[in-house]
Amino acid sequence: MRRKLAAGNWKMNGITASLSEVSGLMAAHPEPGCEVLLCPPATLVTAMAALTKGKIAVGGQDCHAEPSGAHTGDIAAVMLKDAGASHVIVGHSERRADHAETSDMVRAKAMAARAAGLVAVICLGESDAQRDAGETLDVIGQQLFASTPDGATGTNTVIAYEPIWAIGTGRTPTLAQIAEVHDFIRSELMGRFGAEGGLMRVLYGGSVKPSNAAEIFATSNVDGALVGGASLKATDFGAIISALSAA
Ligand code: PGA
Repeated sequence: MRRKLAAGNWKMNGITASLSEVSGLMAAHPEPGCEVLLCPPATLVTAMAALTKGKIAVGGQDCHAEPSGAHTGDIAAVMLKDAGASHVIVGHSERRADHAETSDMVRAKAMAARAAGLVAVICLGESDAQRDAGETLDVIGQQLFASTPDGATGTNTVIAYEPIWAIGTGRTPTLAQIAEVHDFIRSELMGRFGAEGGLMRVLYGGSVKPSNAAEIFATSNVDGALVGGASLKATDFGAIISALSAA
């Protein structure tokens, strides 16, 4: 059985005062029926982890592939772990685009996360042009293969399918399109990792909101969501947590 996971990605949003949203979320959902993860900016990891005390898991949004060294501005996985994180997002499409991260680099980051004892949330997604050209499954298959390290398990790895064109746009794929990609990812994972591939959670991400969460969570091989904008407000993210708990 795969435990459902509602993950929030705050991106470059949030200051200390924003932690009141987390307090509100915990008050409204003291016993969520799914695992809940929030990935704030690195500056808030320590304070958020102190606040949630493990009731909500806390993650970073990126890590460097090396454990230490001369990399100004970067953060090592072991530092996130030390600050109270249990997870780290790697390979988000905004990192792939803004920082020219390749799948090889993403795989190295996922390995660094594992070495530090963090769960890697590995993101994949096709562009608008790639979908229009009928290349979606090819692109996802290549990204999945190259970004996921050997030895990945249901415990140390989560996959997030996030079509680039659906992120922050309010546009979502049809449920059939989501099912097609999630079923494909599941079969690729099982082909490569055997039974462990059946245990890895595969999240959908891209314009998930309270109004579409339930139908997305009822879709084949969707084990939860990676939520951007709607994770910033306790009421919206709480509604998504409720939908996932009921799925
Ligand atoms: P969105 O972002 O929910 O704001 O579309 C999702 C993501 O990028 O993880």
